[in-house]
Amino acid sequence: MPEKKRIAVFISGRGSNFKSILDHVQKGDINGEIVVVISDNPQAKGLDYARENNIHFRVFEFNRGVNRDKYFEEIVNYLEGFGVDLILLAGFMRVLSSNIIRRYKNRIINIHPALLPSFPGTHAQRQALEYGVKVSGCTVHFVDEGVDTGPIIIQEAVEVLDTDTEETLAARILEKEHIAYPRAVKLFCDNKLKIDGRRVFIQD
Ligand code: GRF
Repeated sequence: MPEKKRIAVFISGRGSNFKSILDHVQKGDINGEIVVVISDNPQAKGLDYARENNIHFRVFEFNRGVNRDKYFEEIVNYLEGFGVDLILLAGFMRVLSSNIIRRYKNRIINIHPALLPSFPGTHAQRQALEYGVKVSGCTVHFVDEGVDTGPIIIQEAVEVLDTDTEETLAARILEKEHIAYPRAVKLFCDNKLKIDGRRVFIQD
């Protein structure tokens, strides 16, 4: 069994993906430990899960006019003290700068509520509805320097119903997110993910 991975989770809001991963960590399904939570939003509801579970957290507010590189440099410096092996973006609403991506190359994972490469960026569920696709879903992927462009680890599909609103579609996709994200994190923590170019292979 490899050593437990030390995980940092970045959030901006509700934190339901953080919570679902935390539940799996606590059940022992994931060979890892959430050592720190970072938020750009002091009001993020997800910070309550960190408080309730005695997990270190720190808010880095992104003030207008702040240089993005500097902002992420501060976060990188802060993380050094935690020996972080893996960063999970879980509803973190900022595009990372290249300094943090390089520092944690192939060790940053994101979840996106659409089947990439369709509908990257914000309001993915709205984009899917407006486009009229019949199937959407979620994608767990490594983070590279583009927006939602990194190598894909897992995707889960959901049917788009005629009766769907942005909210109902988002809710059904979220159920799949709570399955797909912990599964991908488990694979990473078991050293089972191998990246070859754009492709990610799951090893037995
Ligand atoms: C999720 O839909 C995720 O795919 C997207 O942001 C949302 C975050 O939700 N990146 P939560 O904060 O994890 O509840």
